[in-house]
Amino acid sequence: MAVVPYKHEPFTDFSVEENKQAIREAIKQVEADLGGEYPLIIGGERITTEDKIVSVNPANKKEIIGYVSKANKELAEKAMKVADETFETWRKSDPKFRADILFRAAAIVRRRKLEFTAHLIKEGGKPWKEADADVAEGIDFMEYYGRQMLKIKDGAEVNSRPIEHNQFHYIPLGVGVVISPWNFLFAIMTGTTVAAMVTGNTVLLKPASTTPVIAYKLMEVLEEAGMPKGVINYIPGPGSEVGDYLVDHPRTRFVSFTGSRDVGTRIFERAAVVQDGQKWLKRTIIEMGGKDTIVVDKEADLELAAESIVQSAFGFSGQKCSACSRAVIHEDVYDQVKDRVAALTKKLTVGNTSDPSNIFMGPVIDQGAYDKIMSYIEIGKKEGELLVGGTGEDSKGWFINPTVFADVDPEARIMQEEIFGPVVALTKAKDFDHAIEIANNTDYGLTGAVITNNRVHLEQAREDFHVGNLYFNRGCTAAIVGYQPFGGFNMSGTDSKAGGPDYLIQHMQGKTTSEML
Ligand code: NAD
Ligand code: ALA
Repeated sequence: MAVVPYKHEPFTDFSVEENKQAIREAIKQVEADLGGEYPLIIGGERITTEDKIVSVNPANKKEIIGYVSKANKELAEKAMKVADETFETWRKSDPKFRADILFRAAAIVRRRKLEFTAHLIKEGGKPWKEADADVAEGIDFMEYYGRQMLKIKDGAEVNSRPIEHNQFHYIPLGVGVVISPWNFLFAIMTGTTVAAMVTGNTVLLKPASTTPVIAYKLMEVLEEAGMPKGVINYIPGPGSEVGDYLVDHPRTRFVSFTGSRDVGTRIFERAAVVQDGQKWLKRTIIEMGGKDTIVVDKEADLELAAESIVQSAFGFSGQKCSACSRAVIHEDVYDQVKDRVAALTKKLTVGNTSDPSNIFMGPVIDQGAYDKIMSYIEIGKKEGELLVGGTGEDSKGWFINPTVFADVDPEARIMQEEIFGPVVALTKAKDFDHAIEIANNTDYGLTGAVITNNRVHLEQAREDFHVGNLYFNRGCTAAIVGYQPFGGFNMSGTDSKAGGPDYLIQHMQGKTTSEML
């Protein structure tokens, strides 16, 4: 029986009183469950270590989300052996069986959606809307990749001559190391993990050390959905120890990484080294940062432009690879857009997202992020005019007010380097050609948007604005699985296009069989 066509998971409208009540209730329930202990999972076995990762709520440092056992090299090696052995059976499993696990897992998360949303509010400090979208995206990845696997399982048609029968199909690669970031703590962690698994690979999952508990919850869901032991092994631990060890390991067949440019580049270089006993060239899927631009033309809806800049810059405190961190505005409308961006930014609320009043912007993830963003704000004060914000408060949680700098030189550091926080810089362009030239002048190429009513300029941007995800007359965040495949050019990564039709194949290799008749 065919599965129903894919449709993305609907978002929750928290202006509806009933939904507000429901999430407040779920937050209370999650609060009652905080501070638990979470072991590693290797071959289905729960392993508790003395050494722990302590996951805290970034909006309230005193609130402990959980104590998570920490893998080291020995445990990483144990997990590698299990994954390697399990691959011999898992690679032969029916793709339909694997897809069905994802469909069931998606249904389980959908039933527990409020609980998962409340958990992300706590562990990631996400505002309600962002937490809800993160859970929806994780469900989407499972539903979409399950269906994609069913589409590609029989390979592709090739020609045969009368005396032969040729076949082409995809087989899995082997053991994959999946290393995920904290910002889409459920969605990206889930998407990268299940893509590797549904294609018949076995997985070593190393989630971000700031958000490891949600990854344990995914493991429980997949087990409940019928995933056999040893297929995905949960090994949180320090990137520098466990990450390096597994990236270098000769039995690692591929690495799927999403995170910063520094770590991504390091993984790319290390994975390229052929180790003693290694029999293949490791495949790498590496998605990194962004320095994403919204271009505003002179013939444009200026209110839409200002709203798009503010929403894309400050949603989840700018902690999205897709966040707008620079706006390039035509000089004829610059002052109008600048004033409106300032006015809209001043209205944003900042605070603890567990608060019952549905706050727009929560904290940044940890002390390291807080210090880094505040130091960029100091740099920004020398590079432009501070229009709004510029202040932070880190006594209870790590809060930074939404910050706008105006009149910044396109080559300035805050225009070139990824800040990954609630900071946006505005600059002036003399015409549309100049605006596109500025938009392209970074090392990155992830997302971008153009706000214009000029059709010729839209077509020009389609050809010349060099980003993996280009949006017209809207903001530059919020790609949807199966609708806007996501990934960037240049130093933003390998453009693997998560949530797109080509994504799964990157976890597989093509095999041709030719039989003489
Ligand atoms: P990060 O690079 O600090 O960490 C990502 C993961 O890598 C974590 O699990 C971390 O523990 C691990 N890690 C750290 N050192 C390692 C090492 N030496 N070897 C192996 N693994 C190691 O990134 P982050 O702070 O978690 O996430 C934010 C970054 O991710 C931003 O730059 C953002 O733009 C980027 N990001 C990109 C995308 C995308 O799709 N392009 C999506 C989300 C986030
Ligand atoms: N899906 C996320 C966005 O587009 C990464 O913002």
